[in-house]
Order: sequence, then C-alpha cells, then structure tokens
Amino acid sequence: MNIENSANWFTSDGVNRPLLRQRAFNFRWAEVAPDVLPLTSADPDFPVAPQIIEAVTAYVSDGLLGYGPTTGLVEFREEVASMLHRRGIPSHPDQVLATDGAASALRVACRAVLGPGDEAITFDPVDFLLPHCAEEAGAKVLRCRLQPGSGEIPDGALEPLIGPRTRAILICNPHNPTGRVLRREELERVASLAIKHDLVIISDEVWSDIILGDVPMISIGSLGEEVARRTITVSGFSKTYGLAGLRIGFIHCGCPKLASRVLEVSGAPRTTFGASVLSQVAAQAAIRDGQQWREGFLHHLRKMRQIGAARLDALDGFHCTEPEGTYLFFPDIRETGMAASELARELETRARVAVVPGEERWFGAGSLGHIRLSFATSEEILDEALARIEQWSKAR
Ligand SMILES: Cc1ncc(COP(=O)(O)O)c(C=O)c1O
Repeated sequence: MNIENSANWFTSDGVNRPLLRQRAFNFRWAEVAPDVLPLTSADPDFPVAPQIIEAVTAYVSDGLLGYGPTTGLVEFREEVASMLHRRGIPSHPDQVLATDGAASALRVACRAVLGPGDEAITFDPVDFLLPHCAEEAGAKVLRCRLQPGSGEIPDGALEPLIGPRTRAILICNPHNPTGRVLRREELERVASLAIKHDLVIISDEVWSDIILGDVPMISIGSLGEEVARRTITVSGFSKTYGLAGLRIGFIHCGCPKLASRVLEVSGAPRTTFGASVLSQVAAQAAIRDGQQWREGFLHHLRKMRQIGAARLDALDGFHCTEPEGTYLFFPDIRETGMAASELARELETRARVAVVPGEERWFGAGSLGHIRLSFATSEEILDEALARIEQWSKAR
C-alpha cells in the first residue's frame, strides 16, 4: 500500500462518530454535548493502524496475560532503544523503562531528579504537564517566556533563571502548544547551559514523530556524549499512534546512574508501577509495523494544517500560522477583543465547537490571548467545525 492509498484511512469514513461519543474522553466527544465538535485534547479521531490491532489480537488469543518484566518487555525496550538510536541518541535497552504514558514518564523523571527546595526551569507557554510534574516532585518552577509570535527561546533568557538550587531544565520538542520544532542552535544553548551548571535535561518528545514542515526534529540527547549523559528523554504513543487509552510511554536515561535512580523512584521493582504488557505489544507493533500508517497520517495532517491555518487566519481578529510540528493550531485571538476563556466559551455555546483556551492553568500566562485547536480529524469534520466558527465570527 502506498502513501496515497494509506491516506484513505484518514477519510471521514474512518471516523466513527457514534463510537467516539462513547469512548473519547478527556474533553472530547464523550464529554461534550452531542451537537458539539471537539477540537480539544490532542488525540486522533482515527482508529489505530491495522498492524497494531493484529498484534494485540494475536497476543491476547495466546491466552497468557501474566506479569511481564518490571522494566518492560525486552522486545519493547529494544524497539524503543533502536528508535532513539535512529534519532541519534546513544541508547541502550537497559536504560529504557516502560511507563503508563508520557505523562507518567514525566512524573517519574521529575521525582528522580527534583525534590523540595530544588528549582526547575521550563517555558511559558508550555503544556501544563511539565510544570505540574516538577511541582508535584516538590520543586519550585521558574518559567522562561518564549518569544511572543515566533515561540523561539530568546537568546540569553535562560541563564538568569539558573541559581544554586536549579537541578533541571524541562523542554518540550516539538512544542505544545506553539507547534514549533526547536532549532539546533536553541537546543545547543540549552545543552551548554545544562553542562555549565550541571543540570539534568528532561526532554518531552511525545510529539517528535509529528513533523509537518521542513524543520527537522533534533533530539537534544543527540547533541554529543556530554549532553546525552545528562538527558532524560520521555515519550509515548498517544499522539502519533492513537494509543492514549492504552497508557503507554517510556523513559530513556542517558546514563546508567540516572536510569537506576529513575527505576528506584518509579516503584517498578516492587510492582507498584508498570506498563501493561498488552500496551507494550501495541507500541512495539506501532514502531515496527506502523510506519506506513504514520506516513499516511502525516500526509493527511499536512493537508489539514494548510486548510485550517488559512481559514483561521482569515477570521476577523485571528492570526494563525501553520505549526511546524504537532497537530495543534495556536492562533493569536487578541484582536477579537475577547479573552481566550470567553472566546472558547462563546465557540462552545454558540458555534458548537470546543477548543482549549489559552489559560494559565493549561499552558501558563504566555498562552493568554490564544486558543488551541487539534486538527487530528477528518477533512469533513474540520471543515464543519471551521464553517461553524466562520459563521459565528461573521455574526458577531
Ligand atoms: C507535551 C505532552 N506531554 C505528554 C502528554 C501526555 O502523553 P500520554 O498520553 O502518553 O501520557 C501530552 C498530551 O497531550 C503532551 O502534549
């Protein structure tokens, strides 16, 4: 099957709305009114790759579903290590820990390197999970404001935030919610500060396979041995492969010492923590056999990105650019004269489209004046949602 054919998986026939209304939670179909279209949480509306269904079905039909290894199935960890290796990260299966999602991986990584009295640096805006996990570990979080508009890390903005208690820098690449793919020179600046001040880098790369433009994805852990050793890479399979409900992700530590610390705090050796074996089988199949499906998905997303960004940008008071990575639009809506929370409320009640408002609790103060919309849906649904927003905008 070539990419053009596999793109058929992403037509409106592929989107089962009645089933989504039953099964898609987390602010999506099952949690909004029956006539509301949700462009909220970043979770694809499409069924997973057929190869994943086959792998899970075959595993279940063998009938043995007992305990797996505490750190994860060897085959899963090998598959993840090879994937990271292809991305230039010096990786070893023994330094991979299977987790129940990228969010859980972030939480464990933060607990391994941060504690009360420590400080961690992250960005503003950024997905709430990064500061949340650092704070939950007991650390104080300092935020570096990204360049409004471009989302760049401003030159010289990070170092003044580093103090004697700073232990870690948390990055998100590609960046949620701006959709920016971090440039090599930005990553090099982060890496050299981490080396200079002896910090751990926690890199959330859950979006790393959704690259839509020409800017290449560079993992910070690939920037040389010294930075690799102090990098913890976390990721998962929710965004690229639609496996959010299986709660599957991983942590990769750049050195054995960090890996054993992560393992210890995770609770996996005492079986109080761990990833479902079935979910690991699904993720393994996704990496090994789901690449054609992923190419088809990317092909579809590039089309949605172009259509959606242009139509959002044409709305009165909206400014929207095409994201380089992720499937998230993050338009600046300040010229509408409405606050993001007010605008999101209006869209849900009047246009019957749910979006995520740029609010401090979701992405930080730097997200105010923006809304976030996911476009991992069919062209038909995206078109319907945009038409409703356009109609609302004209009627204002
Ligand atoms: C940056 C980031 N990290 C982590 C997650 C959560 O991933 P998972 O479903 O694997 O826990 C998300 C989901 O939106 C995300 O955007």
